[in-house]
Amino acid sequence: MNSSYPNLLNPITVRGHEYRNRVEFGPTLFAHSIFTIPEIKENVYRMVEDRAKGGAATVSTGEICVNFEEGITDFAFHKVDYSKLSGEDFDALSEYASRIKKHGAIALFEVCHEGCAAHAPEGISVWGPDEFTRPDGVHVHALDRKMMRKICRDFRTFGEFASAAGFDGVLLHGGHGFLLQQFVSGGTNHRSDRYGGSAENRARFPKQIIRALRKGLGPDKIIELRFSAQDGVDVPGAMTIDDTVEFARLIDGLVDIFHVSNGLKEKGNSTGTFSSHYDIHGVNVEYARRIKAVLKKTLVSVIGGLNDPGQCEEIIASGAADFVAFGRQGFADPDFVNKVIAGKADRIRRCVRCFNCYPGSIEHPSDIDFNERGLTPEYLKKILSPAAMGRCTVNPDSGFGRVPYDCLPPVKEYKKILVVGGGPAGMQAAITASQRGHDVTLIEKEQQLGGTVRIFSEKDPHKKDLLDFINVLEKDLRDCATVITGQAATPEFITGFAADITLIATGSVYKEPVKIAGYENLTDIRMAYENTPEGKSVIILGGGMSACETAVFLAEHGCRVKMIIRSRFVAKELFGGARNALLTLMEKLGVAIVYEARFKSIEPGVVNCVFPDDTETAFSADIIYGALGSKPQDELYRELILSGLQIFAIGDTACPGRIVDAVHGAYDRVIGIGT
Ligand SMILES: Cc1cc2nc3c(=O)[nH]c(=O)nc-3n(C[C@H](O)[C@H](O)[C@H](O)COP(=O)(O)O)c2cc1C
Ligand code: SF4
Repeated sequence: MNSSYPNLLNPITVRGHEYRNRVEFGPTLFAHSIFTIPEIKENVYRMVEDRAKGGAATVSTGEICVNFEEGITDFAFHKVDYSKLSGEDFDALSEYASRIKKHGAIALFEVCHEGCAAHAPEGISVWGPDEFTRPDGVHVHALDRKMMRKICRDFRTFGEFASAAGFDGVLLHGGHGFLLQQFVSGGTNHRSDRYGGSAENRARFPKQIIRALRKGLGPDKIIELRFSAQDGVDVPGAMTIDDTVEFARLIDGLVDIFHVSNGLKEKGNSTGTFSSHYDIHGVNVEYARRIKAVLKKTLVSVIGGLNDPGQCEEIIASGAADFVAFGRQGFADPDFVNKVIAGKADRIRRCVRCFNCYPGSIEHPSDIDFNERGLTPEYLKKILSPAAMGRCTVNPDSGFGRVPYDCLPPVKEYKKILVVGGGPAGMQAAITASQRGHDVTLIEKEQQLGGTVRIFSEKDPHKKDLLDFINVLEKDLRDCATVITGQAATPEFITGFAADITLIATGSVYKEPVKIAGYENLTDIRMAYENTPEGKSVIILGGGMSACETAVFLAEHGCRVKMIIRSRFVAKELFGGARNALLTLMEKLGVAIVYEARFKSIEPGVVNCVFPDDTETAFSADIIYGALGSKPQDELYRELILSGLQIFAIGDTACPGRIVDAVHGAYDRVIGIGT
């Protein structure tokens, strides 16, 4: 037992079930995906199994709807009959429980009813606390007593199913704007009967649902209620933390654990369901503390941007919550608990909250449909396929459309491998190659490893987790490979080294926009991190994700920032939550954006632009940065390609892109070697 985390690792018994520690792995992919996307079924099971194997106390499935009528959720095309306690569907869902319990964790089955927010295919009527017509034209029927009885019956039947299927309990999803929250919130419940008005009345139907679920589950199973701390929207009567605290007090003892999340699913980033790297870690901890303070029987779990075992220990030690729960951290490193126990907390790959595994909903007012962004069909296919789901920037053995590491074909021939370049791609390639048994040497021309990512993540406080990732890569690398730093790999060195396979990971460099007159007056955008101006006026030409992130960085250094872009859309590579977080912060910091400009010429401190209506404007600033693209730094690769060596480019040297592409691309390149 690791004595640095006595509270986090402290076992506890809940309703007769032994929790081996205080870590819960929360839901991260709807449970019915095994039916609706059969090609990823095995990997979905593995998602929960890996987390149980990784030492967590509990692992939950993702949500499934309590019925396939008014409670139907998105993608729930395959109807499960919960009254049938045998057969194919029963076996398929029971498999989740077996995979989790096999490794000593407690298995929870998440169930939800989305109420008035329900997905409404043709012919399905939608029910909620109030009668109204939604902005999408769907009419919502106010629940009467008969409808309420039907929903309670469905929860009871589901409870019987979950119990028979071998789950230890149910995670009842009442938050993120779903049915239970709709009743508690004065923003969505305007009833004048015994289900509206006072806090007691608003809690009445949620209590009936919980009791019905308990009847179905039986007395020995756990009920954990997932709920939001607040609605998080500016609507009259919207649920605040005061309402939630009162609701928690009213249901004390009815559920075993009150799981504190936040916000509304459809506005996930702006309402705090999905925090970004611009938010603090543990966004819901202070809400959990308030809720815990009024509960005498029910325990409290908290989720939201947690990835640091030290902070998790402190949350439990300080009494803010009894459990910590992880969402995305489950993709980043399912082995979290085992690493804590083994004294290897510094090797945990922490979630950097980049939203790559889950884009969220279109949220920012300026968002437009995927197809209107000018992205290539290949890129669109890549990001929209099931394979993209759960694909984690910091964990290449993640993503539902892939062969898991322990199922890879065995290596038959071990090779001598040279990796040139110590950025994320080079380090990941070297680590994976070593894990596969090859003899690996990595050479980096700088004294420090990490490449460009180290440069900006050391400077940008919002990128602290990325810096941590680089440091974890470096530690893992030094454990398993020979590392040479401060020495450039010349062609002579490489040929003399005579590796069986050489991987070139020399990264990318600034691409000068040579077609623009006076382009030499531009400053490489990357210089903003190496030589950061304070309080200057700056112009950034270009509006990609990195340009926007640099705009934030400079604005936070007191610069007056103007971005001038060619299109009508900034950060087109980003979606949903990630884009909302970035653009909202840019607005807050006063970053100005000039759209649809053609760059006619650049003089020192001046950029001359032409607009679609043929007007011309000269913009001036102390510094004008160019962020119009990067190009592979591939001279070495090109020089050696005809040398007869087996040589491959990886990461940005193959194709400049995001860190996730570098890490996954490097891993994919290496896993087939010698098989
Ligand atoms: C890919 C993905 C799928 C998710 N699916 C579900 C789900 O089925 N049910 C649910 O209640 N929450 C779901 N969530 C939300 C998480 O449980 C969690 O609330 C959210 O990620 C915030 O926690 P975190 O900051 O620890 O990631 C999902 C999250 C992700 C990233
Ligand atoms: S893809 Fe990004 S947000 Fe998702 S788990 Fe990995 S690091 Fe976290």
